[in-house]
Amino acid sequence: MSIFSRITGGILAVTTLSISIYSCGEKKEVVQAKRGTIAEKAMVVSAREEASQIGLDIIKQGGNAFDAMMATEMALAVIYPFAGNLGGGGFMVYRMADGSVGSLDYREKAPSAAYADMYLDEEGNVITGLSTKGAMASGVPGTISGIFTAQEKFGKLTPQEVLAPVIELAEKGYVTTPNQAARLQRLRETFIEVNGPDTYFAKEIKEGDTLKFPVLAETLKRVAKNGKEEFYQGETAKMLVKHLQEMGGIISEQDLADYEAAWRDPIVFDYKELKIISMAPPSSGGITLAQIFGMIEPYDLKKFGHHSPEHIQLLVEAERRAYADRNYYLGDPDFVHIPKAELMSADYLKSRMESFTFEQATKSEDIAEGKFAFSESMETTHYSIIDAEGNAVSVTTTLNGAYGSKVYIDELGFFMNNEMDDFSSKPGVPNMFGLIGAEANSIQPGKRMLSSMTPTLVEKEGKLWMVVGTPGGSTIITSVLQTILNVYEFEMGMQEAVESARFHHQWLPDRVSFEPNSFDSTLLNHLKSKGYIILENNNPIIGKVDAILVMPDGKLEGGADPRGDDKALGF
Ligand code: GLY
Repeated sequence: MSIFSRITGGILAVTTLSISIYSCGEKKEVVQAKRGTIAEKAMVVSAREEASQIGLDIIKQGGNAFDAMMATEMALAVIYPFAGNLGGGGFMVYRMADGSVGSLDYREKAPSAAYADMYLDEEGNVITGLSTKGAMASGVPGTISGIFTAQEKFGKLTPQEVLAPVIELAEKGYVTTPNQAARLQRLRETFIEVNGPDTYFAKEIKEGDTLKFPVLAETLKRVAKNGKEEFYQGETAKMLVKHLQEMGGIISEQDLADYEAAWRDPIVFDYKELKIISMAPPSSGGITLAQIFGMIEPYDLKKFGHHSPEHIQLLVEAERRAYADRNYYLGDPDFVHIPKAELMSADYLKSRMESFTFEQATKSEDIAEGKFAFSESMETTHYSIIDAEGNAVSVTTTLNGAYGSKVYIDELGFFMNNEMDDFSSKPGVPNMFGLIGAEANSIQPGKRMLSSMTPTLVEKEGKLWMVVGTPGGSTIITSVLQTILNVYEFEMGMQEAVESARFHHQWLPDRVSFEPNSFDSTLLNHLKSKGYIILENNNPIIGKVDAILVMPDGKLEGGADPRGDDKALGF
């Protein structure tokens, strides 16, 4: 038996376990399991090792999952400004050790001066770039409200205690990874175009360079001392609004003062013996996930086999129907009525799949939103936490695009989001994720834009079983789906499930994308022969899942996505 292992902070991380067996006198290597970092009590999995370490250290100091959330989220804002943020928003789903669940919506809001046609020209056409780049692209940020609201209600430490290691990270700096250096180099000209030649990220940054953020450290010190009011009403608020308005933005001091994170009832549904707890609107994640799971539940996926044509066809067809509903019905529940019960009802989901056959792909043009009896970016980031008391949080947070709107507030040390692009600027015109929106997701002052972020918790036999989520814009929902199925139906470990190649479909455009170099041509040709339109070129990676599995013996297994610099740490 050979075990390839390494020691990570006192934790044995077993990546591959292979066993030599002898059959008919022949020696065969059988890969038995692929396990990630294993820990006894607590774990944090995030996009960067330093952020996971800071979150874990807060738990070791006596903090809980909500303290670790504040620490990890702010550490990501320092070390992973690609998506970690003060200038964006997010969602958190929690499950306390006693089994109670809830969720927090700290999604950005449209400024009060926003209006439905604000991204259209005089002829009614979408003005390219206005909702994605520059000061007009930002919604009112929710992150600081989110982390303070959660920590105030459930945390055990003070914000000063929690934020101290983050401030130290910003002051001492960190070493740029190859991935990070490549991204910063690629976008350097855009940062200069948007912010001018003196902006922080105008400098040439190479892999291995140490980046320090003294200005951000000062912002964090003020926020730690004065609380969320500093960001929404204090000196920080004034500096932020002044900067944005000088760049032609419309966010006002009143918009910031009015912003509040909102507690929401999560979407809870069963799939076979699992109970899945996910994010409610304005995320489309929970309802769309519930619809897909509901549509596939009558089939024996395990019997079909992982990445068999039937497995892929079934998921694609359920996704086609669920995304058609997503794009039509979902929006901010404070502004639009969402027929949640109808969309998730077993009878409705059964009727949606009546047109499905394994013989032939359904055409997306033949699928509109269903009728009832009545009427990314890839550049988001996710982290999963279980604390030593057994509380769990699943958090996805975003600036939307890479470094958001590219507007960097040099006096404060952070990027602003370009989340306004997640609204439907014009019904029928796709956003940057190719998602087609409808009236339910039109722009209105104070409204939250529809999201695909899907922070999720899963229970099995009444106990916490998985914490899971990912970035990936419109591919978030299908990545979370496949990760849960990989473990539950196809009996993979957490790390193996996270690493497994993924595919994606979202109704429109009518095509299926597969991760590069992962699906063989015989399989793809078979699917093409059934009428599936396969995205042939420029297939991107799909998602960067960070998850934790509670194993039958109660130990925790982390799944940190090797598609990024992600890291699981535990004790
Ligand atoms: N900004 C990506 C999402 O919320 O879905």
